[in-house]
Amino acid sequence: MPLAPYLSRYWDAPESWTLETYLAHDGYVGLRRALATGPDEVISTVLDAGLRGRGGAGFPTGRKWGFIPQAPGPDAPEDPEASDPAAKPHYLVVNADESEPGTCKDMPLMLATPHVLIEGMVIAAYAIRASHAFIYLRGEVVPVLRRLQTAVAEAYEAGFLGRDILGSGFDLDIVVHAGAGAYICGEETALLDSLEGRRGQPRLRPPFPAVAGLYACPTVVNNVESIASVPSILHHGPEWFRSMGSEKSPGFTLYSLSGHVARPGQYEAPLGITLRELLDHAGGIREGHTLKFWTPGGSSTPILTDAQLDMPLDYEGCAAEGSMLGTKALQIFDDTTCVVRAVLRWSEFYAHESCGKCTPCREGTFWLVQIMRRLEDGTATESDLDRLLDISDNIVGKSFCALGDAAGAPIMSSIALFRDEYLAHIPDGCPFDHSRSTVFAR
Ligand code: NAI
Ligand code: SF4
Repeated sequence: MPLAPYLSRYWDAPESWTLETYLAHDGYVGLRRALATGPDEVISTVLDAGLRGRGGAGFPTGRKWGFIPQAPGPDAPEDPEASDPAAKPHYLVVNADESEPGTCKDMPLMLATPHVLIEGMVIAAYAIRASHAFIYLRGEVVPVLRRLQTAVAEAYEAGFLGRDILGSGFDLDIVVHAGAGAYICGEETALLDSLEGRRGQPRLRPPFPAVAGLYACPTVVNNVESIASVPSILHHGPEWFRSMGSEKSPGFTLYSLSGHVARPGQYEAPLGITLRELLDHAGGIREGHTLKFWTPGGSSTPILTDAQLDMPLDYEGCAAEGSMLGTKALQIFDDTTCVVRAVLRWSEFYAHESCGKCTPCREGTFWLVQIMRRLEDGTATESDLDRLLDISDNIVGKSFCALGDAAGAPIMSSIALFRDEYLAHIPDGCPFDHSRSTVFAR
């Protein structure tokens, strides 16, 4: 299957991030079409296109927008205290807190083409009748913050933001907010708490943000890539979008290839492409080595092997193999990688990032790391493998949010696939020469 560069088609153009370059590449054409149709029609168009959330869960974007209660008439005052959700203000929040291990698609997108995100936000805010929108960005990525701030200022200057956008009577303000760098703040309700100025911890759902989100008002939280895909749908139409990908997973998307590949990077392709095809575009596994295992969507998804090289990389294809498409962060590990070492590094990440709100995740991730370290240093016993599975079983499905499930996924799948390699660690610790691996060398 050929690549389908749309979002990434002019990333290499000189000063691709400026408004001038964006306008030269059909910038803000989708917005003009949206403003000429009407909010409900915009929601129908995105629904018809079948766009699914690109942050990991794949929830239909148009359906999420459709959950927002109808707004009162244009002249009715918004009342945050109103008991009727339709009378409250509506908010759009873009989740730009990309932090899943291996996931690196939204940051390059915002660096290369911040205006496609801004245009998508204006269209989305118009559709859900919001006059305030936020970009919640990881605080560490200062170059992206600066680029977004500059692009937002350019958009205000040119009349794409602010009062009476393009003479339509629609108003929108965008605030770029830098978080403090906690993985849990990528969970949508923890993100909203953080945006409100509190410590970021997940809220109980339901109510979902669409009903009670930011400041308890109806809120749409969408991933960067989801929103950035909207202008092209408005520009070219839902049938064009549906001409790529599969029936249930239509369109194009960014796949991030990292690890032991000849040419790691972003590869934009129709949903449903396989890893074998992506590796052909990326020059294959690094020379002289073979594929050992990989993740389809970052470390939160169960790991796979070469048996899944021809699995369609869409939501249904991954689910059929017991995994998840997730963030499409394809981390590739060759024969030099110790699977126990790789899983230990992920477990350390989850233990560090656990917010501590619920016991299974707070305590369980700590003990997973202790046992994984025993395997690495040669002090584990065979019963520790059952203990790892038992603890994982007590975390997965029993934690407050998806972080707990994510922590258990690589342990359970790697023991199922590589039990012999775990057993090989028991007498004397790790038998691998880590100096040969470029991925998990300390
Ligand atoms: P989810 O499936 O619970 O929800 C997905 C979206 O649909 C949410 O916005 C939710 O509010 C909305 N939704 C679901 N049911 C709804 C209903 N009945 N009414 C209204 N809205 C509804 O998934 P979740 O927990 O939000 O996200 C988990 C995903 O996040 C995982 O698949 C993982 O791949 C991904 N992830 C991404 C990271 C990144 O860096 N991009 C980091 C960690 C996880
Ligand atoms: Fe916090 Fe982990 Fe519980 Fe999520 S699962 S609420 S991250 S302790």
